[in-house]
Amino acid sequence: MRIDIVSIFPEFFGVLDVSLLGKARQQGLLDVRVHDLRDHTHDRHRTVDDTPYGGGAGMVMKPGPWGEALDDLLGESETESDGAAQEPAPRVVIIVPSPAGRPFTQKEARALALEDRLVFTCGRYEGIDQRVIDHAATRPGVEVREISLGDYVLNGGEVAAMAMIEAIGRLVPGVVGNPESLDQESHEGDGLLEYPSYTKPAEWRGLAVPPILLSGNHGAIDAWRHEQQLERTRRVRPDLLPDADAAE
Ligand code: ADE
Repeated sequence: MRIDIVSIFPEFFGVLDVSLLGKARQQGLLDVRVHDLRDHTHDRHRTVDDTPYGGGAGMVMKPGPWGEALDDLLGESETESDGAAQEPAPRVVIIVPSPAGRPFTQKEARALALEDRLVFTCGRYEGIDQRVIDHAATRPGVEVREISLGDYVLNGGEVAAMAMIEAIGRLVPGVVGNPESLDQESHEGDGLLEYPSYTKPAEWRGLAVPPILLSGNHGAIDAWRHEQQLERTRRVRPDLLPDADAAE
């Protein structure tokens, strides 16, 4: 999978060199390229923002640098048609992190992990001039999704993009060594939260591992884990329960 990121803070994404995603990049499973939006400015101050039309607080990101950056990544959008049959444009999903987008979920991460190419456009200030997003959606083969990390406001799209890239990247086949471990996580499978986990020693600071986990009885362990999942989900995220479980 290829992932392009456009930001005025490319250095933010240095952490993509470490840990699981860093290894996946080295192995060629993820081709992540970070681009500085200011490379598409043409004034001495490398200006990327301006005051909002209609007034109001804050600054809005200018369309010019964004348009040029996306032209560079996706090819010029004005294609001359000479009547010859054209190759269909390869599919690209542009992700615009925004608190005004639809919520990011594990389901969305799973769907995006199947794509060949993602472009993250990280806005700052009051966001990007809407015409950039509307114009990008008219490019052949391009789908634009405005996605929110949650119901709170960050200073810009960078942290949101990082979180989404990690959630999506680990679902790309080969990135996580044991794919079975992905099935047993919170928000996967039955949609319940994960059960609590324990490792050695069996007693630590006076706290014992639940004895059932030492019993060797795998049927009983599975039943206990499922009950723990239900209990935890009922307690902290009742909205995730199917109606029948919530009523129990
Ligand atoms: N940019 C600012 N806040 C955000 C959020 N909650 N999600 C995604 N992008 C954002």
